[in-house]
Amino acid sequence: MIVWQINNSSTVLSNTLNFAIVKSITWKCPSNIALVKYWGKKEGLQLPANPSLSFTLNQCHTVTTLSFSEKEDDNTLLVSFAFDGKRMPSFEPKLEKFFKNAESMFPFLTRYLIEINSTNTFPHSSGIASSASGMAALALCLCSMEQEISGSVSGGDFYEKASNVARIGSGSACRSVYGPLTLWGETEHFAGSSDLHSVKIDLFHPVFKNYRDAILIVESGEKEVSSTAGHALLKDHPFSMARYDEANNNLKKLLKVLQNGDLKAFTDIVENEALMLHALMMTGETPYILMHPNSLAIIKHVWKGRKENGLHLTITLDAGANVHLLYPEEEEDKAVEFIRNELLQYCLNGQVIYDKTGEGPLQL
Ligand code: DP6
Repeated sequence: MIVWQINNSSTVLSNTLNFAIVKSITWKCPSNIALVKYWGKKEGLQLPANPSLSFTLNQCHTVTTLSFSEKEDDNTLLVSFAFDGKRMPSFEPKLEKFFKNAESMFPFLTRYLIEINSTNTFPHSSGIASSASGMAALALCLCSMEQEISGSVSGGDFYEKASNVARIGSGSACRSVYGPLTLWGETEHFAGSSDLHSVKIDLFHPVFKNYRDAILIVESGEKEVSSTAGHALLKDHPFSMARYDEANNNLKKLLKVLQNGDLKAFTDIVENEALMLHALMMTGETPYILMHPNSLAIIKHVWKGRKENGLHLTITLDAGANVHLLYPEEEEDKAVEFIRNELLQYCLNGQVIYDKTGEGPLQL
């Protein structure tokens, strides 16, 4: 458990909060997997350098409970946070920054003592600690708190505000507020798109309904370079401008493919995005490699295997070593057999999370 006492200029860590809980709110929010990657930021408060698009997942969730109680003074922000009942130091710098920025969007926060308890449904040993689901769940709780106190959320639609707030915590989190397909970042190719919040993509070919994502766990533990640090390295990257153009081109092509259901084109675009992301990491001024030899072994086996079995297997990776294997619902049995026979040997302790696209967060 950690407690922040955030004054205008300083943050003080103190002991556990003790208060009689007046009201509790719980949201269960899924993680997401990007098909077109957000990699690089514009000037401003967590604005994306290019539009991105993702599948919202169904099984990998964060469940967050926010409890609040009125306090006497209203000039300090007093928040406690625990993950699985304990401190989670890797999450704390992001949370602290988040609350400093969130104060202006929720001016009432200083009037309350706030206790936050969070947990993930991902297997603990998988090493997946998603800031996307965590920040989105927290943003939804804060919007519900505002609704509880004021009767409505300021600034318009509930989910739009939640997405906007989640973005401030972690860019990719803003896409977890809707399911099963969302887009974040202003683009001429999608009406209503915005850099401030994600938008839901309603119309897509039925083949993408319940699309499967088997997450092949290759490595657990903290990453060598965080995503936030990775975004910053794009600033002076020699290929950044070309990357943003390519992301826009891939987005345009993918939006078409999501309508026409061309699975071969889907694979080409999604794999190009994942490999370009990792190529950018390897080619900057401070190069780094987040793939593991087993990530490569999996990719090679998938490429060889699908030529032989004809399955529509697509690989993608976020900024880490774990490989997401995407395939249509109707190919599930054969794909699972392929994973068991060919890929499991490369997974850490044989771990695979079998997930699929989901409908987004749920208030419990
Ligand atoms: C590779 O959203 O984790 O997963 O905004 O700094 O918190 P911050 O970064 P984050 O970056 C995610 C990058 C990615 C691609 C993606 O999800 O689009």
